[in-house]
Amino acid sequence: MLLTQSSVGRKIIMAVTGFVLVAFVCVHLLGNSSVFIGADAINAYAQKLHSLGPFVWVFRLVMLAAFVIHIFFGIQLTLENRAATPEKNVQIKRLKTGFGAETMIVSGLVILAFVIYHLLHFTFRVTNPDIYVPLGDHGMINVFVMIVQGFSSALPVIIYLVGLFFLFLHVSHGIQSLFQTLGLSNDKSLPFMGMVSKLVGVVLLVGYISIPMLVVFGLIKL
Ligand code: HEM
Repeated sequence: MLLTQSSVGRKIIMAVTGFVLVAFVCVHLLGNSSVFIGADAINAYAQKLHSLGPFVWVFRLVMLAAFVIHIFFGIQLTLENRAATPEKNVQIKRLKTGFGAETMIVSGLVILAFVIYHLLHFTFRVTNPDIYVPLGDHGMINVFVMIVQGFSSALPVIIYLVGLFFLFLHVSHGIQSLFQTLGLSNDKSLPFMGMVSKLVGVVLLVGYISIPMLVVFGLIKL
């Protein structure tokens, strides 16, 4: 990969925002795991989140900013890198190796499309208006019913499987890359960071995919 001095600064911003986003997907998976315990657990978790009021909105704005900045610089750096000629740049290190590394822009854009779909599915409740039932009389939705009904037809399940596979690809290389960009790994520790990166990717893949799969196989049901 060819890097100019200004692109190093943008890579650092990408690394920091990438770290924030990885932290979010880990915490989101932990929260969603309460669905394995049962309906009361996931609904209590959702209720707790919604009761945090303004804090939820601050959190959402920080996450949105991190997401937008990460995507913006990712697209910009990719375009610049493609347009660059070797004469104009100093090749300081070949950071990209392997399928996951070479497809970061593609996997990133698929994740963007997936997140938009996911928000329309579960947050804005646009794609499947039939899966929402109220919980009590406080304007809350029964999140357990929403998840089970939401994965009861083939198309959403396929979309989640594709989205989560690309999340795995992106994270599996991204964590290693962010450690390298932030100067937290060296030639010696790089293989270890690569393993950590892939391990986190696998844990996220298995953890997230098991939710729709357990619904499909009837192990999580109404
Ligand atoms: C099987 C996989 C997943 C399930 C079951 C799931 C479940 C949910 C649910 C139930 C909500 C709505 C919470 C509520 O409004 O009460 C939600 C929101 C959200 N999810 Fe997921 N999720 C999954 C995967 C993902 C992934 C992989 C990402 C990111 C790459 C993600 C990002 C988000 C975001 C950004 C929100 C909006 C959070 C907010 O409203 O503040 N989700 N998810």
